[in-house]
Amino acid sequence: MTEVRFLRADGSLDRTVEAPPGTNLLDLAQLHDQPLEGACEGQMACSTCHVIVAADDFARLPRASEEEDDLLDLAPGVARTSRLACQVAVPDCGLTVRLPTTTHDWRRS
Ligand code: FES
Repeated sequence: MTEVRFLRADGSLDRTVEAPPGTNLLDLAQLHDQPLEGACEGQMACSTCHVIVAADDFARLPRASEEEDDLLDLAPGVARTSRLACQVAVPDCGLTVRLPTTTHDWRRS
């Protein structure tokens, strides 16, 4: 198991959870009540699963595909270490991610 820390948009810790390495980050986030809609269910067509990865962790992740980068360009609040959670597998060394200031989760409206 490895640790994943979910931070709120203001940088404060929301929760730390454990997951087997390789777990899909969006699935894990939704399982632990994070407000990421994932409207396209991982088909890379929505960007509602946008998260900002801690810089050290970002450097250790496999690079985003060109398609993912293009979609991230459209996401509100995008940062240098932004990723689409649906495209990230939790690495062995753990992960810290922060939610962007704007999230869209119509499941909660
Ligand atoms: Fe739509 Fe990730 S769930 S891009």
